[in-house]
Amino acid sequence: MVKIYPSLLAADFNNLENEISEIEDIVDGLHMDIMDGSFVPNISFGFPILNSVRKISNLNFDTHLMIKNADSYIDEFSKTSRQLTVHYEAVTHLHRTVSRIKELGCEAGVSLNPHTPVFLLEEILPYLDRVLIMSVNPGFTGQKFIESSYKKIKKLHEMKLKLNPTLDIMVDGGVGENNIAKLYNCGVTSFVVGAGVFHQEDKRAAVLNLRKRAEN
Ligand code: DX5
Ligand code: ZN
Repeated sequence: MVKIYPSLLAADFNNLENEISEIEDIVDGLHMDIMDGSFVPNISFGFPILNSVRKISNLNFDTHLMIKNADSYIDEFSKTSRQLTVHYEAVTHLHRTVSRIKELGCEAGVSLNPHTPVFLLEEILPYLDRVLIMSVNPGFTGQKFIESSYKKIKKLHEMKLKLNPTLDIMVDGGVGENNIAKLYNCGVTSFVVGAGVFHQEDKRAAVLNLRKRAEN
């Protein structure tokens, strides 16, 4: 069964409670995009929003840290989020950071920007719960899917079979009804979807349609 994580960044922040309750029982969690205006050219939201949403939803938070100084903040993020993903390009001592995330009782993920090859993950892969493949340049919702991501995901899937068979392969950026089946066939097990859910008239129908298309 595939996992679907709508990205809160694409939701209507004036209407968060309704937006979340509309899809709450049919998704696997909420993807939280944390941006620092330095690692990526955008600033999104931080602890106040996470704490507020935590009060109105029991959904699992899958928190994607697009920030440079992740080590200083992971303890605080672990209070609301069970899944924490840091960027390969932003963290110097990845093994230390991943170990800390696990010590905190969270699942640890590493994300790769579109230009970063998957072979760089060879040594860290056995320690990870998840790899998040960025299929757009991180920073904004509603961007166009980068086609070379398919090849990259297939390579990662081969590494997974050898090094960490239970690894969750997650894809983020430009995912929608037209590419989800192909991504599933390349080995993706979890999908982050922003505009493809929250910018749709009927968000519930959008999630159900994505699930059906992925698994058919
Ligand atoms: C992009 C973020 C994504 C984004 C996805 O920097 O990491 O999670 O919200 O949005 P869509 O699905 O609209 O590309
Ligand atoms: Zn994201």
